[in-house]
Amino acid sequence: MLYGLPGTGKTLLAKAVASTSESNFISIKGPELLSKWVGESEKGVREVFRKARQAAPCVIFFDEIDAIAPRRSGTNGGGGDSHVTERLVSQMLTEIDGLEDLKGVVIIGATNRPDIIDEALLRPGRFDRLLEIPIPDKYARKQILQIYLKKKPLGADVNIDKLVDLTDRYTGAEIEALVNAAAIAAVREYIISKEQKFNKEKDTNNIEYQSSEIKKEKYEKDKKEEELEISMKHFESSLSKITKKKILLSLRQLIV
Ligand SMILES: Nc1ncnc2c1ncn2[C@@H]1O[C@H](COP(=O)(O)OP(=O)(O)OP(=O)(O)O)[C@@H](O)[C@H]1O
Ligand SMILES: [Mg+2]
Repeated sequence: MLYGLPGTGKTLLAKAVASTSESNFISIKGPELLSKWVGESEKGVREVFRKARQAAPCVIFFDEIDAIAPRRSGTNGGGGDSHVTERLVSQMLTEIDGLEDLKGVVIIGATNRPDIIDEALLRPGRFDRLLEIPIPDKYARKQILQIYLKKKPLGADVNIDKLVDLTDRYTGAEIEALVNAAAIAAVREYIISKEQKFNKEKDTNNIEYQSSEIKKEKYEKDKKEEELEISMKHFESSLSKITKKKILLSLRQLIV
């Protein structure tokens, strides 16, 4: 069972397992199982395990497993939903216990709410290995930044070590979002400055009467001068956007 904060890369890790392992891979999202099989979710679970046995060696990945496996005690409000999830968990336990003599089927689960997973699912022989996917440390952040900054037109002032420090306690998803936000900020600034320049030129010189040769020369010169670049200020101005999102997210977690 992989657990950790949203955006730490649990789903990404499972996808990597899928693409690097030689075995078959069945991926199923908890909420999907509930909605796709309305009224007969247990049948859905049975179906998944049946397919996996047929396709062995096979990995079954239950993503966002908290949706199908909240505690059966009824402490979660006991709404109309609780019976469905109760039956689902029971069916899952039956299937997992039945796997013992069936070699070649491995189950991976992922959740950002390990606290609401039914304990019976975590007992030995079931999801018995709990693996925390932590938020990235300095070294990991540097690697993640390197991935997302690759092939981006970076200004000379962009210092990756400074970005590593600025993204303290950021998840992989947040680092990716920061790089994208900085890129968008740079593009926006670039377009605005081009527009302003164009308008100014239109006003001052009579652009229509310049020969095409002069125009071309000028264009080449401008292009050299004003390449689109993401500089440190774009990262800095985007930080607050990501932090705001972070606060909202943690609030949402508190409410849930
Ligand atoms: N360690 C990482 N390296 C590179 N990219 C990452 C990393 N972690 C997250 N990302 C980026 O963030 C995206 C979201 O991550 P992912 O969906 O795997 O998070 P999760 O842990 O499954 O979150 P949730 O609990 O919300 O399902 C990934 O698709 C990837 O683009
Ligand atoms: Mg996920």
